[in-house]
Amino acid sequence: MEKLLIKSGNKLQGKIRISGAKNAAVAIIPAAILSGDICFIENLPKINDVRQLEQILLQLGAEVEHNHFSKMKINASTINNYEALGDSARSMRASYYFLGAMLGRFGKAAVSLPGGCNIGVRPIDQHIKGFEALGAKVTIEHGVVRAEAKELIGASIYLDVISVGATINIMLAAVKAKGVTTIENAAKEPHVVDVANFLNAMGADIKGAGTDVIKINGVEELHGCDHMVIPDQIEAGTYMIAAAATQGNVTIENVIPYHLESISAKLMEMGVVIKEYDDSVQVIGKERLKSVDLKTLPYPGFPTDLQQPMSVLLTIAEGTSVVTESIWENRFRHVGELKRMGANIKVEGRVAVIEGVEKLSGAEVQATDLRAGAAMVIAGLIGEGETLISNLIHIDRGYEGLEEKMLSLGGNIKRIQA
Ligand code: EPU
Repeated sequence: MEKLLIKSGNKLQGKIRISGAKNAAVAIIPAAILSGDICFIENLPKINDVRQLEQILLQLGAEVEHNHFSKMKINASTINNYEALGDSARSMRASYYFLGAMLGRFGKAAVSLPGGCNIGVRPIDQHIKGFEALGAKVTIEHGVVRAEAKELIGASIYLDVISVGATINIMLAAVKAKGVTTIENAAKEPHVVDVANFLNAMGADIKGAGTDVIKINGVEELHGCDHMVIPDQIEAGTYMIAAAATQGNVTIENVIPYHLESISAKLMEMGVVIKEYDDSVQVIGKERLKSVDLKTLPYPGFPTDLQQPMSVLLTIAEGTSVVTESIWENRFRHVGELKRMGANIKVEGRVAVIEGVEKLSGAEVQATDLRAGAAMVIAGLIGEGETLISNLIHIDRGYEGLEEKMLSLGGNIKRIQA
């Protein structure tokens, strides 16, 4: 079993380049099916979720070529199977995008119920509500979701909860539907906009992505295109927090600073110095940071995917911080691990009360999910002595070269066989 061994004491210094956004990439790859032509997708992150999506495309009969996964050529004209079943589909959440994409192109789809991080119930009722509104019949049996429609017809859909997945999946199903589809109370995350831009580059007619209301004018045909995935907001935020935690000085390149505003604002409130440039941000940590209260919200609020890394920073801030997780009910599993390292945290339902301590101490801990894994790496960088992190499968699903990047900034981290 592989583990990460981290020795604390080094302040992160230097420059780091952010990869393509995981949560945009994992939607754009399935979306390429809709064209029935050849699409080139660039700036893909080299992560296991992207490798699993390639496996699903191959199972469906698509032809895929890639340049070590950073640029992928997808020929979706050869697809001859509408069922994404099996381990790859079950291993990740984003496999549900094959439902919308195949329904949109072929009028039928079957996908194993998606897996992914264990951070809450993760229902897909809003996806199903959208597909049904467009005229599809959806069933769930023996762990497989099936959707089928003779014809998809545009509809008005109001999402009961703001859902990234449902917003994107309904866009995928609706781009070739007859007439106009409106998604109200839509998610506004940068990756929702990136997927809409990709679909528009294929000839779709989508307006309003990035606002509460998205309008999709169905088109008859889509063609191939070349698309560059946006930089990963969450990866960038992870390095911003790591730089602040180690009192380092790091320039994070290839980012869209506007996407990072909620994170920059919180870090500045704590006393961190942030300088914004055109496509980079510089983060300069200070000795003892101030505690802050934090509530996770859909974009443009503070992202749930950075709540766990941010909690690490709050464990060593001066005073008491209250963290409210409003998106996922089970996203405090990292707290038990942080307590092993000396953190003082009490969790009551969706609220964690963090009393800042002088320092954390290294310990053997687990990456309980993807972002918890990143949180543990940051904790290891500041926890006195050595930290050994197990369960790296989560980290490898979603962070490209985390240890190489941390090493390049001076972090003392290595992957060992244990
Ligand atoms: N929800 C429903 N019904 C639905 C869909 C969602 O009730 O049909 C609820 C969820 O239970 C949750 C909330 O709505 O409380 C938001 O869920 P959303 O659908 O937005 O999440 P998702 O699409 O499953 C994506 C990211 C997550 C990220 C969330 C929120 C992907 C593959 N995953 O999940 O990313 O936390 O949006 O921003 O895009 C991660 O990267 O670590 C990660 C978990």
